[in-house]
Amino acid sequence: MSGKLGGDTLDKLVIEGGNPLSGTIPIHGAKNAALPILAASLLANGEVQIHNVPHLLDIKVMLGILERLGCSTCHEQDTVFVDSSNLLSTDIPEDLMKQMRSSIFLMGPLLVRCGEVSFYQPGGCAIGERKFDLHLEGLKALGADIEESYEKMTCQARKLIGTDIHLDFPSVGATENIMMAAVLAEGRTTIINAAREPEIQDLQNFLNAMGASIIGAGTDTITITGVDRLYPCSYEIIPDRIVAGTIMIAAAATRGSVTLSRCCPSHLSSLIHVLRRAGVQISVSNDIMNVSCMVRPKAVDRIVTSPYPFFPTDLQSQVMVLLSLADGFSVMKETVFESRFKHVDELNVMGADISVDMNAAFIRGVPRLYGATVEATDLRAGAALVIAGLAAKGRTTVEQVHHIDRGYDRIESLFQHLGARMHRQSPVAEQLDFAN
Ligand code: UD1
Repeated sequence: MSGKLGGDTLDKLVIEGGNPLSGTIPIHGAKNAALPILAASLLANGEVQIHNVPHLLDIKVMLGILERLGCSTCHEQDTVFVDSSNLLSTDIPEDLMKQMRSSIFLMGPLLVRCGEVSFYQPGGCAIGERKFDLHLEGLKALGADIEESYEKMTCQARKLIGTDIHLDFPSVGATENIMMAAVLAEGRTTIINAAREPEIQDLQNFLNAMGASIIGAGTDTITITGVDRLYPCSYEIIPDRIVAGTIMIAAAATRGSVTLSRCCPSHLSSLIHVLRRAGVQISVSNDIMNVSCMVRPKAVDRIVTSPYPFFPTDLQSQVMVLLSLADGFSVMKETVFESRFKHVDELNVMGADISVDMNAAFIRGVPRLYGATVEATDLRAGAALVIAGLAAKGRTTVEQVHHIDRGYDRIESLFQHLGARMHRQSPVAEQLDFAN
């Protein structure tokens, strides 16, 4: 795989709003679990099989990087095969690194498997400064030397030695990178103030399935006892809680009734709590959830994003759409990323009444949103605009859809399946139509 892996920046979504969503939809595998697990597949010398992997742009980029490093990869239906037996490079390619922040997940695995890794400043959604100092400090604590020359960084270690690592902030990515490096380190590593997201438990389960010895994921203390080697395994990724949450919010915002299957309701308790406060009806039975909202939602006075198990930053923009249609005045505070209110201007173009002061958004509910042409500025902001378009009166065009393709497997098909009137306008498809 080579060249540009990104989606077409000219694709648009055209949505005829005002149709309540209804029907049943299964939830695809979690992007944020699949990405570190794909990186960790390098730790076993042989073919790893990973099931329930969604077809997303970020997954394509990760597989593209693995191929450039010498692995063979294949994504057939929902299963990915990664064979790293012929790994030949420890240099993460700059062009792909710039396309996706999650490329930094390869630092830990490459360092511990090969003794070195070179990388560049990663790209990703423009939602804040997005430092990676905690990743580097963690690897240094395990014994790595890091040198920087111009934009390129090289990290080397003849041997990693387990130690206690205290994270100043429970960073999801840093917790995962340290876990992946520590599995083959000598001795025991303890991560204190670790992130507790379900995706970290999924990584622990995957690494343990390959023969690692990790306990504690899901709590704030994770203990990793180094082993000599890891073995290929077959593993299934958990359902995507952010995709599930996006659909739940869309169901409520369009005053519809949607059943989600193959989801994990316990991963969504903070969202369920907020939606119930807004008057949304939710019933849960094992891995099935029904969400319906027949009346105007109520305002929710104070929602604060915070690391798991608190309200996820990745659902902040989508919930803001629901609150912009609610009866009353709501306040949302963003504490995880600095610049995560870029959707606000676009929602206001659609008739919302939202103002921002520092990291707080003040939302005065309006009875209706109106279709407009708006731009997805990042992945979750884009998902929020799709929800707004589905709920709005008239036609909405969402531009810069490649951001949305990073985290949702053909979002238009997903919502069409629930009765939405929306389609993708792709210049490439239009040219082909014209040729015919
Ligand atoms: C992961 C998720 C992303 C989600 C975020 C927070 C993946 C692939 N992505 O991103 O969807 O929005 O968790 O739930 O799993 N920070 C530092 N130094 C570091 C690392 C992070 O200061 O070394 C800061 C970041 O700038 C940010 C905050 O910590 O303000 C949260 O970042 P982190 O938890 O690391 O998120 P990601 O792993 O990047």
